[in-house]
Amino acid sequence: MNKNALIRATALALTALSATYSIADDSVFKIGLILPMTGQQASTGRQIEAAARLYMAQNGDTVAGKKIQLIIKDDTTIPDVTKRLAQELVVNEKVNVLAGFGITPSALATAPIATQSKTPMVVMAAATSSITQASPYIVRTSFTLAQASVAMGDWAPKNGIKKVVTLVSDYGPGIDAEKYFIERLLLNGGQVAESLRVPMRSPDFAPFLQKVRDQKPDGLFVFVPSGAGAAVMKQFLERGMDKAGIKLIGTGDVTDDDQLNDMGDGALNVVTSHHYSAAHPSATNKKFVEAFQKANKGMRPNFMAVGGYDGMRVIYEALKASKGQGGGDGLLAAMKGQIFESPRGPMFIDGQTRDVVQNIYLRKVQRQDGQLHNVEFDVIKDVKDPGKTR
Ligand code: PHB
Repeated sequence: MNKNALIRATALALTALSATYSIADDSVFKIGLILPMTGQQASTGRQIEAAARLYMAQNGDTVAGKKIQLIIKDDTTIPDVTKRLAQELVVNEKVNVLAGFGITPSALATAPIATQSKTPMVVMAAATSSITQASPYIVRTSFTLAQASVAMGDWAPKNGIKKVVTLVSDYGPGIDAEKYFIERLLLNGGQVAESLRVPMRSPDFAPFLQKVRDQKPDGLFVFVPSGAGAAVMKQFLERGMDKAGIKLIGTGDVTDDDQLNDMGDGALNVVTSHHYSAAHPSATNKKFVEAFQKANKGMRPNFMAVGGYDGMRVIYEALKASKGQGGGDGLLAAMKGQIFESPRGPMFIDGQTRDVVQNIYLRKVQRQDGQLHNVEFDVIKDVKDPGKTR
């Protein structure tokens, strides 16, 4: 083979190789955003995608001299699919960061890939305490159910809700919610009448709610994942449980801002504990909500959106601080310890646990400007994940 033919053959082989493996291009920074865009948690995907796009529209798509490329993949709310997509994104696309993760099983399924490939993995939605312990490359910008539930376990018995039935979705976050709520309820002199767990997939709440009625508790504490709250509220009201004097309480997942305004007046006065309300009265949040609604045909951002928005911020700031040097480890180091004002309030990524430290608010559903909102009336400041202290 003469020299020219050799050069041509080499060029051809390289083209074929890069088509198959897509050789990492240093001028591009890729974020692999894996979300449930279809399936049971599709509202989470919709909210986080909208938030990520808003963040990029507001902050540009060039950071530290690199072009940011957002690659969105739909895991259809199935953990095996999340894992396969993560593998493809790491191996074929050479993504610099993995992000998203709508449910706990999806985050847990992906954790080993983050560890093996040393790719930072920003969990923007899933909220079981143990997730951050599944890989040293995981950083979380959502919340934990332990964080939110402790506040309700303190508030309820001090406000006349002493005998409580708990009703949770039967998987990681529900089990955390049940555990940490009950622990604090008992500590504050309350009592658990019964603990019910409903299947995570396609739950039918009716038979469980019948059991709750029979117990005649002061309150029903509920955790269901974002998107399922409206069904619980509807069946709770249809059975006249509010009229029977049973107070619905829970983490803010049940009065999800994505659905709350369509729940009707029956939702009025429901008290929940959570880290984000679209009605949070800060200038930063007002700006965020306004911009989000403007960009998304009036859709109200929920707590998933804020997890996605802040997750993008953590990635952008880490890239700025590490100047794109040091690969996954450099990036991870620059994510740890970030502290900033989020639309939710002050927020801190604990360098030790890589989990979020944030305010937890007590909120009551009220009408504001004609719309149903979670109106904050109390705050517990700088709450660390209680699930990490043991
Ligand atoms: C979770 O699967 O971790 C999860 C999903 C939805 C929520 C909270 C937690 O609202």
